[in-house]
Amino acid sequence: PTRLILDVDTGIDDALAILYALKAPNVVIEGITTIFGNVDVEQATENTLRLLSLAQPGYEIPVAVGAGTALAKKTAGYATGVHGENGIGGVELASSNQQPVQETAAEFIVRIAKENPGEIVLVTLAHLTNLSQALELEPNLKNLLKKVVVMGGTVFRPGNKTPVAEANIWGDPEAADHVFTSGLPLTMVGLDVTQKTVITREHLNLLQRQGREENREIIAFMEESLSHYFKFYQEVNYFIESAPLHDPLALMVALQPDLVTTRQMKVRVECKGEHTAGMVVADLRPQPKVGEFIEVAVEVDTERAVGVFLSAFI
Ligand code: BDR
Ligand code: CA
Repeated sequence: PTRLILDVDTGIDDALAILYALKAPNVVIEGITTIFGNVDVEQATENTLRLLSLAQPGYEIPVAVGAGTALAKKTAGYATGVHGENGIGGVELASSNQQPVQETAAEFIVRIAKENPGEIVLVTLAHLTNLSQALELEPNLKNLLKKVVVMGGTVFRPGNKTPVAEANIWGDPEAADHVFTSGLPLTMVGLDVTQKTVITREHLNLLQRQGREENREIIAFMEESLSHYFKFYQEVNYFIESAPLHDPLALMVALQPDLVTTRQMKVRVECKGEHTAGMVVADLRPQPKVGEFIEVAVEVDTERAVGVFLSAFI
């Protein structure tokens, strides 16, 4: 099985990614680390714990609390406009009995990686602050983690937070630049591919008709939270009830890399620009000089990706 740590700011699409990881075949979730982003870190943690107890009652996956603010930026801009005040589209989930572990997110990532060298795949679905802090704690992390898949950034498409910045990178550009230049074995799954991977009302109807009986409650959760997400996206740039599967796609790529085509690029993250902070600057010149090489997802087999997602619940 693939052994995962998920780093999340739960969030509607984070929630879908977590549910997918719980239901996908051949996956072990070693732990989940939380961070500010869509909501503050306390709410992200609460949402994560509640979702886990809805989907896996009586079975505890360790949850470690991470950063509440960015490395340098003092104010955190949450995305409650997109994800609702509570981050999960206003859905009220029952509270959980589980407590987070004592370690911080960064400590947790470092310990699990050290205990299982070359085994762990880390999937980050939010700002890169926790991972940047983990690199500070353990500079050798790049040789301990099997792979890191980052949902974030964009190279060929416009940003979603600013004209050029995607939200996960924009919220802590210093952390993102640290991570991207650290030598970690990294794949960036950004808006170039996630915006093309869209779930629609029709897909939801299919899940309701064909979802396995044991998944009834989580499909109801998806329906309720996605209805909120659809409303947001309908106003922004889609005309039908639909929304991009940002975080689930990154998770699926971690498990099934051939869902996307990647291209090696040297990248840096702009940290200062008045209009460009949070931009992923890819050196696409024939002889790139700026930044370190990472894999950037540039194409996606959209239909197959959505099919893979849905099939985990059917
Ligand atoms: C990313 O930003 C967050 O709002 C989503 O959960 C996703 O991780 C998309 O830009
Ligand atoms: Ca997220």
